[in-house]
Amino acid sequence: MTEPEASVRTRPTIELERVSYRYPDGESAIEEVSFSLSPGERVVLLGGNGCGKSTLLKLLDALVVPGSGEIRYCGEAITPRRLRDREWSRRFRGEVGMVFQDPDAMLFNASVAEEIAYGPARLGMPEPLRHAQRWACRFGLEKYLDTPPYRLSGGEKQRLCLACVLACGPRLLLLDEPTANLDPRATGWLIDFLRDQSALTTLVSTQNLSLAGEMGERALILDERGKLLFDGPLDEALGCTELLWQANLAHSHRHRHDDGTEHRHVHVHRNWE
Ligand SMILES: Nc1ncnc2c1ncn2[C@@H]1O[C@H](COP(=O)(O)OP(=O)(O)OP(=O)(O)O)[C@@H](O)[C@H]1O
Ligand SMILES: [Mg+2]
Repeated sequence: MTEPEASVRTRPTIELERVSYRYPDGESAIEEVSFSLSPGERVVLLGGNGCGKSTLLKLLDALVVPGSGEIRYCGEAITPRRLRDREWSRRFRGEVGMVFQDPDAMLFNASVAEEIAYGPARLGMPEPLRHAQRWACRFGLEKYLDTPPYRLSGGEKQRLCLACVLACGPRLLLLDEPTANLDPRATGWLIDFLRDQSALTTLVSTQNLSLAGEMGERALILDERGKLLFDGPLDEALGCTELLWQANLAHSHRHRHDDGTEHRHVHVHRNWE
C-alpha cells in the first residue's frame, strides 16, 4: 500500500534513536544520541574539538554504522542489508550529500569537470559533463574545468566539494565545517545559497558562533563525550554562556586593568559582528 502524500511530507527526513558509536581502535565517539530532522529544517551542529561532530555526520551519511541504536531515513532503518541493496543505496547516495571537513578526502578525479560530473553520472543523470559545467560556473570554478583538483587552493577545493554534492540534487545536505577555508565573499554566498534552498534539509557543523546564527534556526550541541547536551532554538543556545562553556565553545582568559588588578571571566567571541 502506498502512503498518503501528506504523511510523506511530514515524516522526518532522518531520525536517530539512541545511537552510539565507537571507533574500532578508539574510545566511544557518540553516546546515546537521539534526534530527528524534519524536511526543510536548517540545523547547526556545535561542539568543541573531538566531541564527535564529524563522526555524527558520517553516521547520518551511512559511512559508518552505529554500534547500537537505529538511524532511519524517510522512515526506513538504515541497515547493512539495505546498504547492500544497490537500488536503495543509489537513491540514498543521491538524496543525502555530505561535504567532508577535509576536502582532500573526497577529491579523486583527474579534472574539476570530471569530479563534479562523477556523482551525476553514477546516478544516471543526463549529460553529466554539461551539468558539471553549470555547477562549476555557479561556484566560480569555470576556469579550472580541466585542472586536476589537487592543484586548487583550500577554499577552491571546498567550493568544488560543495559543487560535487549539490550537482547530485540532494534532499539532505550534511556540511562539516563548510566555511573553514572560505573567504568572506564565498562564505556570504554559501549562507545566501543555503537560505534560498527551502526544500533542502541541512545539518551544518561549525565552531564559528557568529556564522552559526546565519546557518540555521535550531542547534544540536554535543558535549566532549559525544552526548547530546542541547537540542533547541539556536538563539537560546547562543545566548547561554554557561552552556557554551560546558560545550567547550567559550573560553576564559585573564584581563588586566590599569590599576594592576587582574580577573578572569568567560568569553564568547563573535568575530564577525
Ligand atoms: N578514524 C578514527 N579512528 C579512531 N578514532 C577516531 C577516528 N576519527 C575520530 N576519532 C576520535 O573520535 C572522536 C570524535 O572525533 P570527531 O572527528 O568526530 O570530532 P569533531 O567534533 O569532528 O572534532 P573537530 O572539531 O576537531 O573536527 C575523537 O576523540 C577522535 O579522536
Ligand atoms: Mg570534525
